[in-house]
Order: sequence, then C-alpha cells, then structure tokens
Amino acid sequence: MGILTPMETICLTARPILSTSDLDIATAFLKEGHLVAIPTETVYGLAADVFQPDAVQKIFCIKGRPPDNPLIAHISTIDQLERLVQNPSPELVLLAERFWPGPLTLVFERRNEVPGIVSAHLKTIAVRMPSHPCARQVIESLGSPVAAPSANLSGRPSPTSAQDVLDDLGGFIPAVVDGGDCDFGIESTVVAFIDRVPVLLRPGAISRQTIEEVLSKHLLDPYENGPIMSPGMKYRHYAPKAKLYLIDSQDDLIEKQLKSAPYMPECVNAHNLYSHLRKADRLGYSEIVIVLNTKIRSDEALMNRLCRACEKI
Ligand code: TXA
Ligand code: MG
Repeated sequence: MGILTPMETICLTARPILSTSDLDIATAFLKEGHLVAIPTETVYGLAADVFQPDAVQKIFCIKGRPPDNPLIAHISTIDQLERLVQNPSPELVLLAERFWPGPLTLVFERRNEVPGIVSAHLKTIAVRMPSHPCARQVIESLGSPVAAPSANLSGRPSPTSAQDVLDDLGGFIPAVVDGGDCDFGIESTVVAFIDRVPVLLRPGAISRQTIEEVLSKHLLDPYENGPIMSPGMKYRHYAPKAKLYLIDSQDDLIEKQLKSAPYMPECVNAHNLYSHLRKADRLGYSEIVIVLNTKIRSDEALMNRLCRACEKI
C-alpha cells in the first residue's frame, strides 16, 4: 500500500497489539501522524489527530471509505469542543451536558480552522466525548481531538474486540490498543438539529426515548423530511460475508431453501450482534439466520443494523 511511510512499514513487522499500559506509545504514533485503533465504550475506533489532514486522509484510504462520508471527532474535554465548533444551540449544549461522556454524537456548526476532510467538507461536524478510559487518556495526552470512524473495512460489521480490528485492518495499521470487549457493542446515537428540529440521524446505544425525554420533543427520522440528511445512511453497512436472513419464526426457514446448515445465534441483542456476524464469518458459514422475536423488534438500533446488514445496495 503506497500510502505507508517507512516508519509504518517497520511498525507493521512488529506486534501490533498494545496493552492499556502502553497508551504513551499509541499517543506517540498519533502525534507523528499515524493511525491507531482504540477501544471506546461503543465499538473500536480508527483514530487520527483531527488537526493533521494527511493522517485523516489515511483513514479513508485504509478503510476504503467513500470520501463523502464524514467522520466523528472525539474529545476528552469541553475545551476541545470549542476548538471544533461554533454557535452551539442551547439544545445541543443541553444534550452534551446530559449525555457526555457517553455514546451520543451531536452535529454542530464546524469552525473554519478544522480541516474540511474530517467532515467531508460539510459545514457541520459530528462530535462525541467517549467515556472509555483508554480513549479519553489517549485524546488527553495527545492534547487534540481524534477523528475516529469504526475500525472496520468500510461496509463490514463494526469491531467490538482488538482481534476484530486485526481481522479487517491487520497489516495496514501500526497498532491497536487492546481494551477488551466493548461495553455497548453498537455505535453511538447520532442527533442533529436541522432548522432547529431535532433529527435522529442514526439510532444507537442511547435510545430515542431517553433523548426525547430530555428534550421534551419528538425526534424526527431522517427520511421524514425529504432527502437523506446523514451521508453515512446511503451506504451498505455492517454486512457479514455470509448472507443474512431475518425470519419471524423457525417455520419460515423452509421457504428460504438454504444451501447448508446456517449459523443461527440465540439471544441476539445490540451488545452481541456484531460479534455474532463476525463469528459466523470466521467459522466459514455461508448463511446466517436470525429469528426476530419481540425483544429484537422493539430495539430500534438493533433492527436498524439488522435491516442494513441484509440490504443489497
Ligand atoms: O460509536 C461510534 O459512533 C463509533 C465510535 C468509534 O465512536 N464511531 C462510528 O463512526 O460509528 P462511523 O464513521 O462509523 O459513523 C459515523 C456516522 C456516519 O453515519 C456519518 O455519516 C455520521 O456519523 N456523520 C458524521 N459526521 C456527520 C455530519 N457532519 N453530519 C451528519 N452525519 C454525520
Ligand atoms: Mg462505521
């Protein structure tokens, strides 16, 4: 891969897994403009210093991410928010105060000083303050926010362990910090205000209802108002290599005419969905079947990921 520097090439020959006591090494890589995968409470992120556009560019190359899909900037203090955004509305401030640090991403007006590549040259920028101690410590000692999408190849299920990251990106990134399995296992919720109306751009780890209660307002869906408003929504996502079937009951299996015995996980939830999808791929299954019970159906974020993992776009 022509985009690797000599330093990165040397690093790739070394053991890429860093322990949580090696965070100074992770920070040193970031300072020098390299990428490092770090654990967060949602999923692992592929981090680059927000203020080094060449480093941010590597994220798009290594993930194979479409250049019009903006990244989330991760901060560890409110001071860092002020370097990224301007004119935050009182509602955005309210949500940040209530849910940060934690798995809520908010879309703000971007300051001109922030390299445009971070948010695909939109006027806005998505920001969140993670609660995971490793992510916070790395950002804190870097002294700069990090841009970090999920640390998977574009279109694949998000990684919830260091091994998942290496399965997709091993050989292409100098290091991953191993913080164990992620607590939530599903990405953050993304909320924007469009013409002062709150919109749920991506359902996620914090439920719609929890946010609506704090705002005392209904959250609009991105399609309710016409065009797609979250750039990431138009791409296929979260897909395993195996074909995924969603059925209502075991009886529906017959009509699917499967080629062989499928991977059929029980007790699927938002926490374990991605690890099940990746496990099926590791074990070489060509088909996965998930029976949609009432509990799964009532989880908006889980249903969103399941439906999108089945889509053929
Ligand atoms: O939990 C998470 O959010 C994880 C961890 C690593 O923090 N990150 C993550 O990033 O899921 P990514 O890049 O996989 O998803 C970011 C989502 C995409 O749907 C993207 O389109 C949307 O956030 N997004 C980013 N910036 C935006 C903006 N300025 N306006 C609207 N949507 C934006
Ligand atoms: Mg992602």
